[in-house]
Amino acid sequence: MPVVMDESALGRRVVVRYRRTDPGAAPPLSDVVGELRAIDQNSLTVLTGRGVRTIPVSAVVTARIVAPDRGRVLDLERVAARGWRPAETVELDGWLLRANSGWTARGNSALPLATPGRPIATMLADVLDFYATRSLDALIQVPLPARGLLDAELAQRCWTITSPVVVLTKALSGGQPPAGAGAGVPVALESVLSPAWQAGYHARDGQLSEAARSLLSRHENVRFASIRTGGETVAIGRAVVDEGWAGITALEVAEPHRGRGFAVRIMTALEQWAVQQGASHAYLQVTATNSAALGLYRRMGYSEHHRYHYRRAPGERGERGERGEREAPGASSGERGAPGASSADSRPAKSPPSITP
Ligand SMILES: CC(C)(COP(=O)(O)OP(=O)(O)OC[C@H]1O[C@@H](n2cnc3c(N)ncnc32)[C@H](O)[C@@H]1OP(=O)(O)O)[C@@H](O)C(=O)NCCC(=O)NCCS
Repeated sequence: MPVVMDESALGRRVVVRYRRTDPGAAPPLSDVVGELRAIDQNSLTVLTGRGVRTIPVSAVVTARIVAPDRGRVLDLERVAARGWRPAETVELDGWLLRANSGWTARGNSALPLATPGRPIATMLADVLDFYATRSLDALIQVPLPARGLLDAELAQRCWTITSPVVVLTKALSGGQPPAGAGAGVPVALESVLSPAWQAGYHARDGQLSEAARSLLSRHENVRFASIRTGGETVAIGRAVVDEGWAGITALEVAEPHRGRGFAVRIMTALEQWAVQQGASHAYLQVTATNSAALGLYRRMGYSEHHRYHYRRAPGERGERGERGEREAPGASSGERGAPGASSADSRPAKSPPSITP
C-alpha cells in the first residue's frame, strides 16, 4: 500500500481507493468510504453505509483519512449536548440556547446546530437578549469546520475567540484495556453524585455549586467513577450514554497521584460500563493545550473528530467569575474542567457562579 495508514487511524473516517480484482472490471479502480474498523498487514476493514467491506492491502492504491462532513460534526455536537444538560435549554430556529448559572461554557452558550431561516443580526440579538436576561455573557459554541461561515460572520462582528477545544472519538470494542500501572485497581461506579466522588473534584477549590451538581446529575443514564485509597478519593470521571455514544467528562486525578495509571483505569471502567449500555463509540472534549489529557486520550485510542471554540459577544470580557477554560470532567478540555465538564468548557459567567472548570 503506497500510502501509509496504521492503527492510529482506527475509528477515523477514511477513503480507500483500490484495484478491483474481478476479471474485466470497469472501471478498474473503486473507492470505499467509511469508518476504519480494523487494519493489519493483510487487509483493511471499513464500515460503510452499506455494510462492512474488507479490502486486501495488496489491492489498495491509496488510503487517507478525511474530515467528517458537516452533518456528522453537527450530529455529534447534538449528542454531546444531550450528555451535558444545563438547567435551561431553549431551542430557537435550530440553535440551542443553554443556561446553567454560569457553570461551564458548554452549559452557558448557544449551540448553532442549524442555519436559522432569518437574518443573522436578529438571531444574534435574540442570543444577546437571552444571556443578558440571565446576567450571563453571550457566548456561542462554534463547531468547526461545520459552522465556518458563521464563525467568519461572528469574527467580522468582533465576537472574540477563545482557545480551541478538540473533540475526540473512538470506536468502543469492549476489548482489553491498555496495560498499565492502574490495572486491577478497584473503581467504584455509582449512579448518583456521592460526597466521595465530589471529594475528588478539585476545580474551583473543590466547591461544586448546586448548579454544578444538578448539571452533573441531570441524566437518566449516568455513572460516576472514582478510585479511593486510604479513605481519600484520588481519581474521578463521569460518563453518560446517548444514542449509542458514550460521553466521558469530569476526568481528574488528584495531583500527587498522577502518572500511576489511575486515569486509564477510570476511563476503562467507564468505557466498559458504556459498552454494556449499548454504546458503540465514545467522545470527549479537551482543550487543545491540555497535553497531559491529549496524551492520555491518544494512548486510549481516541483520535480527533473535529474542533470547536467559543465566540464571546463584543464588550463582554468574561471576567465575571471567570477562571479560564477548563473542562469539567464531563467536558474535557485542556484547561481543566470541572470534572464533569470538559476543560474546554469552562466559561466566564457574569455573576458569581464562576465558570466551571
Ligand atoms: C489528564 C490526567 C487525568 C491524567 O491522569 P494520570 O493519572 O496522570 O494519567 P495516567 O497515569 O493514567 O496516564 C496514562 C497516560 O496518559 C498520558 N499522560 C499522563 N500524563 C501526561 C503528561 N503530563 N504528559 C503527556 N502525557 C501524559 C500518558 O500517555 C500516560 O501513559 P504512560 O504512563 O504509559 O506514558 C491528569 O493529568 C489530570 O487530572 N489533569 C487535570 C484534569 C484534566 O485536565 N482532566 C482532563 C480534562 S479533559
